[in-house]
Amino acid sequence: MFKNTQDKQEAAPQLKDDNIPAHVAIIMDGNGRWAQKRHLPRIAGHKRGMETVKTITKFASDLGVKVLTLYAFSTENWKRPHDEVSYLMGLPVKFFNNFVPDLVKNNVQVRVMGVKDQLPVQTQKAVNDAIKDTAECTGMILNFALNYGSRLDIRLAVQEIGRQVANGQLDPEKITDQTIDANLMTGFLGDLADPDLLIRTSGEERISNFLLWQIAYSELVFTDVLWPDFDRSVFEQMILEYQQRDRRFGGIKTGK
Ligand code: FPP
Repeated sequence: MFKNTQDKQEAAPQLKDDNIPAHVAIIMDGNGRWAQKRHLPRIAGHKRGMETVKTITKFASDLGVKVLTLYAFSTENWKRPHDEVSYLMGLPVKFFNNFVPDLVKNNVQVRVMGVKDQLPVQTQKAVNDAIKDTAECTGMILNFALNYGSRLDIRLAVQEIGRQVANGQLDPEKITDQTIDANLMTGFLGDLADPDLLIRTSGEERISNFLLWQIAYSELVFTDVLWPDFDRSVFEQMILEYQQRDRRFGGIKTGK
């Protein structure tokens, strides 16, 4: 496990262009602590975190990442104080209002996974408009997990598969990993559904109900850097760490 340090930043070797993770998923943590350290309200951290999303989206797209999945709001985040939830629900509106033209310019397509119909109407409208306005873009997919929880994702998939079995459309013996993949909220990503690299910021080292099925063979990289401070150079270090990993998917070394 690699912790970000100044020494590492200075000594960073070059990224290899031929081994950029196709799907990067990020648990963007530490907004509240970033604000508290500055004696600011927690929402100031979320606001700054939104700016980081812009920087990292542009950088990931320039690097050739194909899918960037960002955990923006979990099914558990509703437990937060009402004012904070309200602010978080307003962020996609702010973000897309002013960033969609840049996304289009960079050929980035927006997608959202999660239970959208529980979101406030104006949040639903902002995400639906952004999805529509970027639908023709063919570059990186910027996939927001919004009101997303992995156990919910799995439960909904099991229910759908159960319905298909019950009505005779599907033989239970014919259920494969691909059947499950296709019924999860990442199904639309096809072969890119499983993240190659999962990053969590802020020093916490847990998964918090994010993509539990999909991260079976993801490389996990943690950094102490708080999300509002996460920048291109830290992201580059995380990818360098990824490039030093030997991915075997349960097999043996192939002499790469
Ligand atoms: C976790 O930090 C962060 C969140 C629950 C929200 C993440 C949202 C953003 C970074 C902005 C998203 C932007 C868009 C466009 C939707 P925390 O509040 O748990 O931090 P803490 O652990 O320090 O309290």
